[in-house]
Amino acid sequence: MARVVVTGGAGFLGSHLVEELLARSHAVVAVDDLFRGKQKHLNDCKGSPDFHFLKGDCADLAVLRKAAELIDGVDVIYHLAAVNGTRWFHERADMVIDVNVNTTIAALALAEENTCRLVFASSPEALGVVDEQPMGVSMDSRFEDAALHQRHSYGASKYIGEVLIQHAVRTKDMDCRIVRPFNAYGGRCPSNEYGQVISIFMDAAVTGRPIKVHGDGSQTRSFTWVGDVTEAFLLAGLTDTSIEDDSRLAGAVWNIGWPEETSIAELAEMVMEISGNEVGIEHNKGYPGDSDRRCPDISTAEQQLGWRPWTDLREGLLKTWQAIDMRING
Ligand SMILES: NC(=O)c1ccc[n+]([C@@H]2O[C@H](COP(=O)([O-])OP(=O)(O)OC[C@H]3O[C@@H](n4cnc5c(N)ncnc54)[C@H](O)[C@@H]3O)[C@@H](O)[C@H]2O)c1
Repeated sequence: MARVVVTGGAGFLGSHLVEELLARSHAVVAVDDLFRGKQKHLNDCKGSPDFHFLKGDCADLAVLRKAAELIDGVDVIYHLAAVNGTRWFHERADMVIDVNVNTTIAALALAEENTCRLVFASSPEALGVVDEQPMGVSMDSRFEDAALHQRHSYGASKYIGEVLIQHAVRTKDMDCRIVRPFNAYGGRCPSNEYGQVISIFMDAAVTGRPIKVHGDGSQTRSFTWVGDVTEAFLLAGLTDTSIEDDSRLAGAVWNIGWPEETSIAELAEMVMEISGNEVGIEHNKGYPGDSDRRCPDISTAEQQLGWRPWTDLREGLLKTWQAIDMRING
């Protein structure tokens, strides 16, 4: 049994991860300031004697130390706390950078104090503007002129997070690893204007409003079912050495995503078909700096962790729709 701290544990990915860790008999503390996460996401965990929730700011090392005390020390930290959601990147670039960098510094300090493993939830956005697809794990990061827009507040904060992680691996011999999820979706994903595309589209279908597509909708993403992403996080934190050659995994980076692209226009059509609501599509300008394409090369995760996603977009959208239906009707 591992003792695990999950920062951002009441969020979308964090709450699914906490549930799965408990299902596998680990002791877990979810720490979250509830900026975007919700305590009700963890309702199913409440009955478990191995579950703890701590409300607090993960940039505060004292809060993280308290979390570790609740389970008598820590073996693995999953650092997921961050400000996520495209609208925030533009409206509150200052807050995005502050929270994402300072929570990572605090999580690393806790890992160092406890000589434990740390898994950092980074993002493909840490690479900024990418011309080549699929995206490998090792590419140069390139960001547009900050005077044009502040979209890259998020990507740059994740890039700085990766620099901090690699620095800790290199100079302190720490066992830190990096996961880059590609557009995870599923139940509990926020659907308001600060949320993510699939939930926003589903919300439009549920409430009978037209789906708003940025630009002509030809931009692509790799959409990855939350259950597959959660499995990748579990493997990233609980696998001791590479299954390929038994090498150390400190400093490893894994792209975690469905290895095929879907355009946003296609996604909108699929959501209407699955929901049975032909609400129609409205095109708008969208946000500056959005990437045209995003598709992962997942070979490193396959080789080192034995991870591959198994839920295609249609199946995942059906499950997401059922989760929404249960929330509304059941
Ligand atoms: N969902 C995706 O597709 C995706 C893709 C790439 C990377 N990520 C990364 O994975 C992680 C989880 O993403 P998510 O989609 O679950 O987002 P989320 O917003 O649902 O989860 C982040 C959680 O962190 C909490 N939080 C924010 N600031 C905090 C602070 N100072 N102290 C404590 N808690 C704080 C929020 O309340 C929220 O519950 C994030 O680091 C995100 O950047 C997610």
